[in-house]
Amino acid sequence: MAPFDGHLTRRDAIRAGLLAGAGLALGRLPLEARSATGPRSAHYGQDGVRDLITRPVPKTGEPIPVVGLGTNQYSVTEAADIAVRRDVIRRMPELGGTVIDTARGYGRAEIVIGEILQEIGGRDRYFIATKCTAPQNDLEQGMTQLREAFERLQVETIDLMMVHNLNGTDVLMPVLREWKEQGRLRYYGTSTSSPAAYPRLLELMRQEPMDFIQVDYSIGNRGAADEVLPLAQDRGMAVMLNVPFGGRGGRNLFPQVADVPLPDWAAEIGATTWAQYFLKYNLAHPAVTVAIPGTTQVRHLEDNLGAARGALPDAAMKRRMEEHWDALG
Ligand SMILES: NC(=O)c1ccc[n+]([C@@H]2O[C@H](COP(=O)([O-])OP(=O)(O)OC[C@H]3O[C@@H](n4cnc5c(N)ncnc54)[C@H](OP(=O)(O)O)[C@@H]3O)[C@@H](O)[C@H]2O)c1
Repeated sequence: MAPFDGHLTRRDAIRAGLLAGAGLALGRLPLEARSATGPRSAHYGQDGVRDLITRPVPKTGEPIPVVGLGTNQYSVTEAADIAVRRDVIRRMPELGGTVIDTARGYGRAEIVIGEILQEIGGRDRYFIATKCTAPQNDLEQGMTQLREAFERLQVETIDLMMVHNLNGTDVLMPVLREWKEQGRLRYYGTSTSSPAAYPRLLELMRQEPMDFIQVDYSIGNRGAADEVLPLAQDRGMAVMLNVPFGGRGGRNLFPQVADVPLPDWAAEIGATTWAQYFLKYNLAHPAVTVAIPGTTQVRHLEDNLGAARGALPDAAMKRRMEEHWDALG
């Protein structure tokens, strides 16, 4: 995305919910845009398509749409495989989405995304997050990954660079801080998808003034809510949620609801599919800035971004959703 200069227009401020505390603008927002976790903005764009709910990055106030795209299945070479992924990336901004998460660790994914963005244009419509590592704290390897991310993605600025799985944070964090100061990175942070790594993540969150953390959290995997999400709120860090559907392996949530109808009361939060139920559950946590469900299909992207519209669960609804899920056992 174009660098955010810290100056919010009134529209941006409304989108970020910043005027809400002053009691301004809310009267103009649709009722459905409010929830127990705080006011949310929603309005209609020029083409009549309603924008997605956004939340501010705590350190800058920059509004980010609350559902993005994960790309760990974007390491492909066949033209047909690239074409379906191009369709997903092209469709996303048409629906109001901006956030793409990728990583050096996802094979060719950065390269595929870079080529697609060159082809379809409009790099500024996307918020691009990627990740690097420095195995065994080997700074040289980390610097190579960092430098090559720009070439592979074919961009001059990376919106968010994270140390993948906390791998090499000792040597990479000072570099990310410096590259952010130089304007090459807009935000920096780290990621994990393993509860076993939470102690190290928590320690780092206390030491390093990161802009973002990325962590696993879903209705079937709520451990991050114990300490990680509250600390992120305390430290003013944005939270990007990975594996919001439990990932792609045996923990994926969808098989558990394959033959289960959505409860009628899901309509109260505007969820029309299980994917929206799962994502709206994630978004009910006030620490969460954006969830990044992975998909290679336009129809799933449309479904997922649909979770960033309408009402979000309040605390009572969140409990009800958990109880319902737990009863499915
Ligand atoms: N440590 C880390 O930093 C880390 C670790 C893991 C993941 N991540 C990031 O998080 C992203 C998300 O994780 P993930 O992709 O592994 O798992 P996920 O988002 O929890 O689940 C993806 C699975 O759900 C399916 N799916 C997506 N939308 C759907 C819908 N609306 N209805 C039904 N099925 C749907 C996908 O299939 P289709 O492709 O067919 O839609 C895929 O099988 C990754 O892509 C990656 O960017 C980061």
